[in-house]
This record gives sequence, C-alpha cells and structure tokens, in this order.
Amino acid sequence: MRTVRTKAELRESLDEPRGAGSSVGLVPTMGALHAGHLSLIRAARRACDIVVVTLFVNPPQFGAADDLASYPHDEARDAALAEAEGADLLFAPATEEIYPVGFTTAVEVSGLTDVLCGAPESRGHEHFRGVTTVVVKLLNLVQPDIAYFGQKDAQQGIVLRRMVRDLDFPVRVDVLPIVREPDGLAMSSRNRYLGPEERGRAAALSRALRAAEGAAAGGERSVDAVLAAARTQLREAGIEPEYVEARDAEDLTPAKSFNGRPVLVALAARIGRARLIDNTLIGG
Ligand code: PAJ
Repeated sequence: MRTVRTKAELRESLDEPRGAGSSVGLVPTMGALHAGHLSLIRAARRACDIVVVTLFVNPPQFGAADDLASYPHDEARDAALAEAEGADLLFAPATEEIYPVGFTTAVEVSGLTDVLCGAPESRGHEHFRGVTTVVVKLLNLVQPDIAYFGQKDAQQGIVLRRMVRDLDFPVRVDVLPIVREPDGLAMSSRNRYLGPEERGRAAALSRALRAAEGAAAGGERSVDAVLAAARTQLREAGIEPEYVEARDAEDLTPAKSFNGRPVLVALAARIGRARLIDNTLIGG
C-alpha cells in the first residue's frame, strides 16, 4: 500500500491502472479505523482492482459543539489496518490540500439534510454540507467505479445517493450493513469516549432498535407505538435521546405507519461526551 498526501500524487497513482482498464473502489474515512470501516475496505477489495482509502478529518462537517479537536488520530495504526485489508492507496492529505486558501465552494443537498442529524437542534444541515462538499471532491479526485459507505450513517448514505443521482456522478454507491460489538453497540470511533459505566448503558441504543423491530414484527402498525417501544428501552437505561424517529427510508419524510414501505427508525443520544447514532430499516 502506498500513502499519498497530495492530489497530484493521488491522480498520478491512478492514471496508469485506470488507463489499463482497472476498476477503482473508494472508501472515504476520517480514520480511527474499526471493524465497520474495515468491512467497507474488504468489500471494495472483493469487487475492485484498485482500492483507495481516504483518511481525512474534515473540519467543515464538525460544528462548534463537536469534537474536531479531540477526534482520534493515529495514522500509523490506520495505515497498517488498511494495508492488512488489502488497500492499494491511502490518501491522507493535510487540511490545506483539500481546502486551500480561497476555497469558497460548497455542495448542498436540500430537504434531506434538514431532519434527523441535520435538524437545527441536532448537528444542523451545515454538517451534511461539509460531508457532501468533501465527498464531491473525493469523487472527482479518485473517479471511482464504486464508492463505499456504511448504513451506520444512514442519513449520510441517503444524502450521498441523492447527490450522486442529482449531479450525474458516474459512480455506484454501495451502502453496507452496520458492524456491531457483541452486545449490539454499533462500532464507532466515538465509542472510545465512553467510560465503563457509559459503555454498559450504550448497549440500550441497539436494544431500543430491536424493541422497535419486535413491535413492528409483532404486527404493530402505529409509528407512535413502535417508537414508544424503543423509548422505553432508552428510559430504562437512563438515556435521554436527542431524537428517536421513524422516516421513509428514501425521502426521509415522516413515516405514517409500518405498512410495508421501508421505514428508517433512527436515533441519536449523548452518553457522557459521546454523541452516538444508530438505526434500523424495517419493512420493504
Ligand atoms: P467515518 O465516520 O470515518 O466513517 C467512514 C465510513 O464508515 C462511513 O461510510 C460510515 O458510515 C462507515 N461506518 C462507520 N461505522 C460503521 C459501522 N459500525 N458499520 C459499518 N460502517 C460504518 O462518515 C464519515 O467518516 C465521513 O462523514 C466521510 C464520509 C468520510 C466524509 O468526511
């Protein structure tokens, strides 16, 4: 695996394989790699001739109350993990390489980014503007055949699919299943912020989603009743969620009932200093 830091080196490294007809897979990350990220790299390795992993903690997607300054950095560890999964190229640019002085452009998907994590009382739509802007740059730089994202960030996947469709990017977007700890907690770089007691309580997030799935599987059609099943699990663990919502899995409009159309049940909660998210798709 080769590590490159500049856009010029990245493009140059891809010229030859692409000229020879090799397919390219892109796995964008902010580093602090865990089994969730590695599942994306593995999928890219299986499907593509060349696997590009990007490691860039993207300042514009962090809000004032977010954890940019303390976001974990360990490039040597990340590089070793990516290489072990068979990545060919690691693009690890400095902030100025992505946002040189005078950078003023942004890409924004409207509507989908105003709800859930994009709501003003949550991270706000500026978070997604930061994500879509950097992902456009990565798509333009790497020009992958397939770009890989995780269902862990369900809304991000929905927003990026819409962006790729609306802007005619010639790329397939693959969104892969959530990788979880044995007790159900979704893997996240932010889990390391949890103390032992908080880590125990955090398992209630996935329990809440299993409870919602159970209620729907048991024939409950009412959104309120299904969400109440989830909220009960959170309450019992002393967790006050930022949101617990049921939304149409394609356009993120509020779900009216569990009647066969795919519904995204998504939640966010702060536990200690970690802001955690999780979700499940029900029906469809
Ligand atoms: P990051 O949080 O590092 O996540 C990189 C990718 O890994 C995302 O597509 C995310 O959904 C996926 N991922 C994270 N945890 C996962 C889990 N437990 N199971 C499966 N996949 C998981 O998401 C970002 O970075 C950034 O917003 C980025 C897209 C890189 C743009 O800056």
